[in-house]
Amino acid sequence: MNQKLYMVSLGPGDAQLLTLKALNAFKECSAICVPTKSDDNSFRKSISHTIVQDALHILGEEKEIIPVYSPMHFLYEDWVHEADIILETLKKHECVCFVTLGDAAIYSSIYYLLDIIKEKNLAVYESCEVIAGVTSFSAASAVSKKALCLGDEQLTIKPINPRGEVLTTEILMRPKIGMDTKVLGEGDFYTYENMYLKDEKITPSKIEKVKCYMTLFINYARRD
Ligand SMILES: C[S@@+](CC[C@H](N)C(=O)[O-])C[C@H]1O[C@@H](n2cnc3c(N)ncnc32)[C@H](O)[C@@H]1O
Repeated sequence: MNQKLYMVSLGPGDAQLLTLKALNAFKECSAICVPTKSDDNSFRKSISHTIVQDALHILGEEKEIIPVYSPMHFLYEDWVHEADIILETLKKHECVCFVTLGDAAIYSSIYYLLDIIKEKNLAVYESCEVIAGVTSFSAASAVSKKALCLGDEQLTIKPINPRGEVLTTEILMRPKIGMDTKVLGEGDFYTYENMYLKDEKITPSKIEKVKCYMTLFINYARRD
């Protein structure tokens, strides 16, 4: 069976902030795995479930909904249990979505789950697609009509209650064409050129010279 897993970002709460990619993934799949904090697997407190139901209503589709108990205790065995539910669902359904609030890049469990899925089933990991979404803070900025960054300002995102050492991921934007990237320092860099556009290039390191303005660098937190 050709298995396909989508990790779908739901946006901050309004189904109208879902992307077309997210809606297409819901159309394509036959089951949607939805996290719930309730240990009886109900969706009484699940914002994600409400967004998914709204999305399915907009699409006029019905899909099997699989509860994924996610107590948010940051325990490895909980993530293993969640990853196992996803992998079990993929045994019965060729295409499955797992959903996460806001954008998957920001404090989401999906990368803990993907690390475990990678170990347990490399083929599923490799065919998995992560669908980006609207973050809570992009939406907050929009509803209050206040920019997050203007001119030469920078943006900081901080955990309010860190459990240990706080690592930093740095996003570097608006380069000058022809600039030498030595000034950006060293680290676990990726370079993203013309993403989703013609001539898209994603390099898992820092390129030496900037060729085009649509270039973004991310110096990822070293997590190992
Ligand atoms: C586990 S993080 C998930 C963040 C999410 N992935 C994102 O892209 O915004 C949960 C935190 O995001 C913020 N958040 C998410 N959705 C929100 C909303 N609809 N309204 C206000 N804050 C929200 C709150 O600070 C909340 O404690």
